[in-house]
Parts: sequence; C-alpha cells; structure tokens
Amino acid sequence: MRRDAATLPLKRAQGTPYIVLVIVEPSSIGVPYYPTNDFGPLMKGLVIGGLGIFHVFLAQFAIGGGVLMTYFEWLSGKGKLASARKFTSGYFKLLVLVSFVVGALTGVGMWFTSIQTSPRTIGLMVDTFHWVWATEWTFFALEVIAGYCFYRYGDRLDGRSRLFLLGLYTTAAWFSLFWINGILSWQLTPGAWLESGDLWAGFFNPTFWPSLFFRTFAAMAIAALVAALVISASPSLERDEQKELLHRAAQLLAPMALMPLLGAWYLFAMPKDSRSWVLGGSPAMSMFFGLGAGASLLVGLYAIFGLLLRRLYINSATASLLLVLGFAATAGGEFVREGARKPFTVRETLYSNAMTPAEIVTMREKGSVTGDPYPLRDAADYPNDQVRLGAKVYRFQCSVCHTVGGVNGIVHLAGTWTAEQTRLNVAKLQHTKPFMPPFAGTPEELEALVRFIEWESASRPKDFEVTSDPATRAQIKRWLDEAGTAPGYTTAAEKKR
Ligand code: HEC
Repeated sequence: MRRDAATLPLKRAQGTPYIVLVIVEPSSIGVPYYPTNDFGPLMKGLVIGGLGIFHVFLAQFAIGGGVLMTYFEWLSGKGKLASARKFTSGYFKLLVLVSFVVGALTGVGMWFTSIQTSPRTIGLMVDTFHWVWATEWTFFALEVIAGYCFYRYGDRLDGRSRLFLLGLYTTAAWFSLFWINGILSWQLTPGAWLESGDLWAGFFNPTFWPSLFFRTFAAMAIAALVAALVISASPSLERDEQKELLHRAAQLLAPMALMPLLGAWYLFAMPKDSRSWVLGGSPAMSMFFGLGAGASLLVGLYAIFGLLLRRLYINSATASLLLVLGFAATAGGEFVREGARKPFTVRETLYSNAMTPAEIVTMREKGSVTGDPYPLRDAADYPNDQVRLGAKVYRFQCSVCHTVGGVNGIVHLAGTWTAEQTRLNVAKLQHTKPFMPPFAGTPEELEALVRFIEWESASRPKDFEVTSDPATRAQIKRWLDEAGTAPGYTTAAEKKR
C-alpha cells in the first residue's frame, strides 16, 4: 500500500532508534522530502568525501594493478622479464584481497552513505543513467569472475591463458571506470543534456575525456607505486631481479608526464565559476588543488628522473613515501572534484541541499519545510516553536554542508554577527558566498533560522524570546527580493557585463 510520507507513523519511544521504510511522494507543495541523518560534529560532505577518497584509491589500484600484471605477463611471455612470475602471484593476492574485499565493501559503503546524505541526488543519478549503471555492474561482475579465476587457477595455466585472463580482468575493470566516469563527470558538467535530456549527451559531457584519461593514468601510477613497495619488500627476490622489476614497474609512471596537460584540459572544460574557486577563489579548494598537484608533481619527478632515466634503486621506505604522496594526490583531486560542483550536486539541476532551482521560487512563497513530515529528533529540547521551525529549516537547507558546532559550524561562522547581519547574509546567501544556494524559504522561516543560530550560539538557554516584529519581516522580504532566486555566480557575472 502506498502512503503519503506525511502520514507515516514516525513516533518512537524516546531514545530508541527507528527504521522505517519510506515511500517518498511529493508533498503538498510538490517537493519530495527525505529523512535527514545527523552525523553530529562530522559534516555530511566529509563523511562521504572521506569514504569516497579511500574507495577511489582502491578502485584505481584495482584497475592499474590489472594493467601492470598484464604488462608483466606479456613481458614474461616474450622472455623479457624472467622474474615476473615470482612477483605476480604475490602481487595479485594483494590486489585481489585489497580491491575485491575492501574495495567492494567501501563501494557498498558509498551507496549506503550517499543515500543518507543525498538521496535525491542518487535518485536522479539512478533514474537518468539506469542502463549505464546496469552495464557498469556487468563489467564489474566480469572483472570479479576473471580475477577470481586467475586467483584460483592461474598457477596451473599456461602463459597464453594467464595472459588472456589478466587481459580480461583489466579490460573489464577499466570499462567499469569508463561507465562510472561518465556519470560522475556529468554531475559537474552535464553539458548538452541540460537542454536535450539526451543520455549520451550527458554521458559524453565536456569533462568526460580529460577525466577518463586522468583517472587511467592515476590508476597506473598507484599500481606502480604499490608494486615498488611490494618488490622492494620481497625477501625472495634477488637484488638484480628487484632492480629489473622496479624498472619495468616504473614505466607505468611515465604517462604521469601528461597529467599537467590533462589537468589543464579538465579545468578548461569546467564551468568558469568552479574553475575560479579552484584557482584561488576558495581557500580550502585551492589548498586541496595545490596538495593534489604538488604531490603528483613530486611523484612524477621522482619517477621520471630517478626511476626511469637514472634507474635508481628504491627502498621500501621511499616506496611507502611515494605511495602516501599518491594517496594525497588522489585525496586532493577528489576533494576538488566534489567541491567544484557547489552549490549543486548536479549542475544547474539540483542544489547540494536537494532543491531544484524552480522549487526555490515556490518555497519562497509557501515555505521550505511546510510540507516536511519528519519530526525533529529531540523536539522537546527546543524552547519554543520558532526555534523548532528554525532547526527544521537549518536541517533541510543548511545541514548538508554545515554542522551546528563542528566542521564548518554555523555557530563559529555566524555566532558573532548581530541579528541584523545574520538576516542580511542569510537572505543573500548566494551572494554571501557563491558556492551556497539561494535561501529558499519565507521571511518567517528566515527569522526562525536566525533565532535558531542565536539560540545555539547562546548555548541553548531554556527560555528564549520569540521575535515577531513586522518591520523586521518586511526588511527580510526586501532583502530576499533583492537577492533573487538565481545562483550567486550567474548574477555576479551578469553584473560584470
Ligand atoms: C552547498 C553547501 C552549503 C550550503 C547548502 C550552505 N552553506 Fe553556508 N557555507 C558553505 C561553505 C563551503 C562556506 C564557507 C566556509 C568558510 O569560508 O570557511 C559557507 C559559509 C557560510 C557562512 C559564513 C559566511 C561568511 O561570509 O563568513 C554562513 C553564515 C553560512 N554559510 C550560513 C549558511 C546557512 C544559514 C545555510 C542554510 C540556509 C547555508 N549556509 C547553506 C557551504 C554551504
């Protein structure tokens, strides 16, 4: 039986968690509401970002590892790398263990966290790319089957069958990247899809190719660095064998030389405002961009001059250090990619706080949480209905990027402002910082939000005055009208013209 979300029984005994199956239907004002989870002092973006970085690193290792092993097997078949077999079995066990087990677990974890932090975005991604996901999963299944067969039977097979299995594993792994990459890059640059709604226009969007090449080379580099660590730490290998294997593994680092070019291509294909934040507009994002670029540069320089040209030996300490740098580069890159989309999760389509641009216009009239059926967790702790309304507005519009008192905490950011300043800056939210969406509610809701922030800043006193000055409401209304409902960067660009 389908029920309107608003009528679902959500009562629970105090303190006991509840699990409800929610069928979300548009509320009376046409906006679908989802339950919002609260991770305490941890910002939602960080929860998913942290897991995402870890997952991407492992997934790229799985792909690059395939390339490396196929290359080694091929060299071994040609008689060019005698010690290849000695190395590959051990390396493959590591690869399988790490990428299948931990990679798959974190992959499921990604779905689990992202449907909690941004169910509407995930819904849109699944709706839009239904068959692309299905195709991606097929390739992933093929990757697992080929990998498992090699793991189980590899030692008993002849060279040609080994090469075939490894080639199949690698091709399947790379294609799962190919499909995922289309969906992820679409979120930042949906391109012609915005007008036509055409699936392939969205898939082969402006950042598809630079991002695909970039990730492929990153995957090879990570695999080479892991290989360097395994080789230098293998007691069963002679020094000469180690040197030869290291030199061959280092060849997979060579394409890194093209990374600056691909990075520039990627930045160039990005929307102008996103690019400007990466290149100095947002301190946090520029810092992560610098981290990613700097770490890649160090790895690349060492690889090209040390390992390839001078054929230096690399000990396990250096190999570990390079691997840490590789991880830092991945983290920086993923942070920038996630951050550059702000204020959207799908550019021009869905804001980070799960509202569409059109819905903001409606919610300015009818209220943003008027139809929100989910009760506050601890409704009784709030001093009055105004603060309760403010808490709901905060939860719906702000909590995806802010916490109250933790990471990017609203109390730290606005706690010292006067009420007047807070009203103005929230009413013109998209101009206060263009990576925030426009405020989406009525003047009453905005005032309630300001009171909520003040109440939290005052350490949640028991009694708190309810404000209801008509002149203040009128002023808020004027500010909201001045701010308009277009995203901040468009209006800034129009002003410049
Ligand atoms: C898309 C993510 C996002 C959303 C949604 C969002 N913010 Fe922000 N907000 C940020 C980021 C990022 C900053 C920058 C923090 C910094 O500069 O350290 C910020 C900064 C701020 C600041 C400080 C501005 C300044 O000039 O110092 C305030 C106040 C603020 N946000 C309030 C809000 C309120 C209220 C809401 C909900 C109505 C909200 N934000 C929604 C991401 C967001």
